[in-house]
Amino acid sequence: MNDASQGTGERAITVEEAIRGRKSTRAFLKTPVPRELIARILTTAGRAPSGSNIQPWKVYVFDGKVRDEIVTDLCQRYDTVGEGTREYEYYPTKWYEPYLARRRTCGWGLYSTMGITREDKAGMHAQRRQNYEFFGAPTAFIFSIDRQLEKGSWLDTGMFVQSVMIAARQFGLETIPQAALANFHEVLRARLSVPDDEIIICGMGIGYPDTSAKVNSFTTEREPLENFVTWVDALKPAKD
Ligand SMILES: Cc1cc2nc3c(=O)[nH]c(=O)nc-3n(C[C@H](O)[C@H](O)[C@H](O)COP(=O)(O)O)c2cc1C
Repeated sequence: MNDASQGTGERAITVEEAIRGRKSTRAFLKTPVPRELIARILTTAGRAPSGSNIQPWKVYVFDGKVRDEIVTDLCQRYDTVGEGTREYEYYPTKWYEPYLARRRTCGWGLYSTMGITREDKAGMHAQRRQNYEFFGAPTAFIFSIDRQLEKGSWLDTGMFVQSVMIAARQFGLETIPQAALANFHEVLRARLSVPDDEIIICGMGIGYPDTSAKVNSFTTEREPLENFVTWVDALKPAKD
């Protein structure tokens, strides 16, 4: 650590540790995150690659009173109208294997960590509702892109979003990426003055993790390498 790192919670961390140690964090301390730190993380993430370097990502950042007001609005909508709908399909409209099983493992893993059973609809509602409180994170991001852009720009934005999550870890900060926030795009658009020509992709809570919170003990598994890697050792004969 050098002098410049004092007060930022900066730590030496390998890239491998930064990536492997990241996990979706669903309980945060109230400790505010200095805006200079947020700016540093976003500047770093802005080094993410993008096709032709068009840098399609846009980020709306808020904390303090603005964050609290948005939380009130989002929760009110969730409590009265229920889950909204995104302007785009994140998932297949009809689920199929192996994705369905993975999705179920993830969902039930989280609920069972919290002692929420299949019958406990109120418990599920309360857990889902946490999305609209940014899981207690003191700072929130909303990511958008110009809606005329194509799939390539969504890919670029994903790289930017992951870079934010990884860059944050150098400072002891953790994150929760949140597609659920795009369900209430109208609320966010209206309150954050997001222009109509932008599409809200997802949001994110960022802050210092509450390591004592049970929800943060939930850890997801990954498929072994052989399930997603194909080593190509021989080529099929070329057609004449
Ligand atoms: C783009 C994106 C959107 C997500 N949206 C949500 C969300 O709305 N709410 C939530 O609790 N988790 C959300 N997640 C977190 C995933 O459930 C999580 O990344 C996955 O289960 C793997 O767990 P890990 O992040 O702890 O490795 C999202 C993740 C991504 C990448």
